[in-house]
Amino acid sequence: MTQDELKKATARAAIDYIAPKLEADAIVGVGTGSTANFFIDYLAEIAGRFDGTVASSEASAERLKSHGIPVYDLNSVDAIQFYVDGADETNPALQLIKGGGAALTREKIVATCADEFICIADESKWVPVLGNFPLPVEVIPMARSLVARELVKLGGDPVYRQGVTTDNGNVILDVHNLQITEPKALEEAINNITGVVTNGIFALRPADRLLLGTASGVKTFTA
Ligand code: A5P
Repeated sequence: MTQDELKKATARAAIDYIAPKLEADAIVGVGTGSTANFFIDYLAEIAGRFDGTVASSEASAERLKSHGIPVYDLNSVDAIQFYVDGADETNPALQLIKGGGAALTREKIVATCADEFICIADESKWVPVLGNFPLPVEVIPMARSLVARELVKLGGDPVYRQGVTTDNGNVILDVHNLQITEPKALEEAINNITGVVTNGIFALRPADRLLLGTASGVKTFTA
């Protein structure tokens, strides 16, 4: 199977999982990226069986609206029943690296609000230890050099993602060469650097359920 076929299979599995559980007034949180895009396209098939969505990026909001699916401001909803999103890496504890698409901050906000966070990923994302994928860090633009120096002190090699501005008007540093053996501690340490908006480690709020697309079918892992 191609990687896209694995992504489609995991997106379809997420629909099969949430569809019978969705309340008529439910809000679904929707992630960002190519796997999330497949999920959005399948979600359109069950539109009308739930109230609407909250999107983790402008791009996902546009795709949802193009299908006629309502998109709400997070501040106007009381609860999010499910948040469904991809990942750049997942470890066996369902701690993630996210942000390859620069949407990490809104993704983390929506994930934090969700009753259940379902990660959909193909098997290339499964790793024993996080860190092969360069860790995205969203940074206030004027603090870019300050934050980069602090990230070097933590053992990483930050690289400015040229030409990218986040939906929040900030920049991204991708931190190479981290072996993230203590994800919660590093997530907190990086978030404590002045000028950091957030970083792409999802360990304080890991996924609750991972649907991993593999050549032998979609495998389910729970935290
Ligand atoms: C977006 O910022 C990311 O967190 C994505 O969820 C992640 O990059 C996975 O993207 P793909 O589904 O395109 O692999």
